[in-house]
Amino acid sequence: MRISACGAYIPSEVLTNFDLEKIVDTSDKWITERTGIKERRIEKDKSTSFMAFEAVKNLLKNFKNPKEILENTLGIIVATSTPDYLFPSTACIVQGELIKEYKLDNPPQVCFDVLAACSGFIYSLYNAYNLLKNSEKKYFIVIGSERYSKIVNWEDRSTCILFGDGAGAVLLEKTEKDHFLAFDIGSDGRQKHLLYVPCVGQDSEKNYFLKMKGNEVFKIAVRTLEKSILNVLKKANVSPEEISYVIPHQANIRILKLVSERTKIPLEKFFINIEKFGNTSAASIPLALKEAWDKNLIKKDDLVVFTAFGGGFTWGSTLIRF
Ligand code: COA
Repeated sequence: MRISACGAYIPSEVLTNFDLEKIVDTSDKWITERTGIKERRIEKDKSTSFMAFEAVKNLLKNFKNPKEILENTLGIIVATSTPDYLFPSTACIVQGELIKEYKLDNPPQVCFDVLAACSGFIYSLYNAYNLLKNSEKKYFIVIGSERYSKIVNWEDRSTCILFGDGAGAVLLEKTEKDHFLAFDIGSDGRQKHLLYVPCVGQDSEKNYFLKMKGNEVFKIAVRTLEKSILNVLKKANVSPEEISYVIPHQANIRILKLVSERTKIPLEKFFINIEKFGNTSAASIPLALKEAWDKNLIKKDDLVVFTAFGGGFTWGSTLIRF
């Protein structure tokens, strides 16, 4: 199994820290120093499923015959906390659009969303990896697509400055050699009050925006990411010095600096693009991967760790030999 292609959709509208200064009581200096974020993208008009579909179309540009790829694809998973609907799933909507766009006779069949907040992409990879292993088909499409601009409270300076919109997609391909060396996946639902988004219909809630106790989440994120990265290295018997890149979920530059110190993987090996996109939740790893891929940073045989932490709490890491 390996990742054989990736794609992305990046909304065109840029919201800078200076723009945010006009909306809430904040400053470019505070946001930059406390988070590493300079700007983020906002998708005003289009839905999460639209962004996901565009990311897949972008991915399929890598192939001469996209129809053939799609007809040999077992399914589609969309990792998202901001779906268009509770149902149909975002993945089903994307599948419907792909059938129309590529005139598919035999479309991907196993289509569903995964809701694991910022860890959703790793959870989805883990699901797709295991489903594809036991199938006759050759491919699986895994997408992270998020539109947090719709669920943050634009009057709450402690959260609205953090998030952005976007989508990334990867093609998982069954190969003779398994390039996935290990997964580490976990969850702990005991502290759900620290980070949550109420569902419409929850009578006890005054609004349905994201709520977070940032400071407490920060500390748990650092400890959990450290542990998860070290777990995945241990499982594969690989040392921190052997790692070429870490492609982390992009939540806060200070979290990544601390994780780098604690795991002894130098910060230069962390691929960081948080300054441009902020926290795009389940989309952040595939968006970062796409950028690293396009810049030709990841070479054959490089050992790369993906790692994420998010609401639930959930977390996950995987170690891949590219
Ligand atoms: N601009 C200016 N001041 C701000 C601010 C903003 N946007 N947001 C908060 N502040 C203020 C607070 O009101 C507080 O002021 P006080 O000391 O007068 O009470 C002060 O800054 C410090 O607040 P605190 O929440 O302790 O800041 P912090 O250093 O922890 O940074 C976060 C806040 C949200 C950036 C940080 O906690 C974080 O990134 N947490 C984890 C986020 C995360 O990973 N979430 C998703 C998991 S994937």
